[in-house]
Amino acid sequence: MSADFISLNDYSQQDLLALLDLADDLKRKQKAGELYQPLLGKTIAMLFEKPSLRTRVTFEVGIFQLGGQSTFMTTILGERETVPDMARNLDRWVDGIVARTHSHDAVLELAKYASIPVINALTDELHPCQVLADAQTIREHKGKLDGLKIAFVGDGNNMFASWANLVTKFSFDLVLACPEGYELNNAVHDYASKNALGSYTITNDVQAAVKDADVVYTDVWASMGQEDEYKERLSVFMPYQINADLMALAKDDAVFMHCLPAHRGEEVTDEVMESSQSIVFDEAENRLHAQKAVMVTLMS
Ligand code: CP
Ligand code: NVA
Repeated sequence: MSADFISLNDYSQQDLLALLDLADDLKRKQKAGELYQPLLGKTIAMLFEKPSLRTRVTFEVGIFQLGGQSTFMTTILGERETVPDMARNLDRWVDGIVARTHSHDAVLELAKYASIPVINALTDELHPCQVLADAQTIREHKGKLDGLKIAFVGDGNNMFASWANLVTKFSFDLVLACPEGYELNNAVHDYASKNALGSYTITNDVQAAVKDADVVYTDVWASMGQEDEYKERLSVFMPYQINADLMALAKDDAVFMHCLPAHRGEEVTDEVMESSQSIVFDEAENRLHAQKAVMVTLMS
């Protein structure tokens, strides 16, 4: 198994199943009130260039529940000192680094120079922690990943890219429905196009994408760092809003997922967010358990 958690692509299906099973077990332990502290005395440094609710709280609470502690820094990597210098300082003091950055290369560079595990807490390119928690949530609700149709409606962004990584590990059908010009179009896309275990499709036809889907997923239309494109994106993406009419095209027992934060009235309506099909808070909850599984696996 990889020493870092930067991309789901670095993990085999077997590794990911082990993480998911561990996440389920840690969730059970936590709910049962069992004290489980395999990381007693261990520490993580959390380097965040971007805002966060879910990722920050779940890593901080997660390491504490496992017996360790975190130190949080709002920082721009490479601004005050070089990333290699920062990495080689931190690895003298702490047992793991959790980083949320704009540049994906900055996280790769941290991992190259730090001897301790580096965990990707979101970059402009990928968000593997979120998709691991999403996979845990889908297994809870659907009992499996294989054979499902997962429709991601919105931007071909960091979230979709981590889904494109996952479809090379499990046999589901992944469809992105996005406006023209907002497709994923990079090495992650090329790899998924050639190596999807189920199927991997990108379309501009949102109705076809959602038809008979088991999971309908969306994310914000303008990601962190794209604030200046917000107005333009709002009008381009409006036909891709998840509303009750669109959800009606999915299977009757389809679930709605969103990594959050949600911009209600934009990528999703209030009605869908609050519907019985919405599992967004189960998904948010599992960030805690999935990331605890990553920390236990890499740090104990
Ligand atoms: N989904 C997610 O990563 O949320 P935060 O940006 O609040 O951490
Ligand atoms: N694509 C979003 C995900 C937020 C969790 C962003 O990068 O802002």
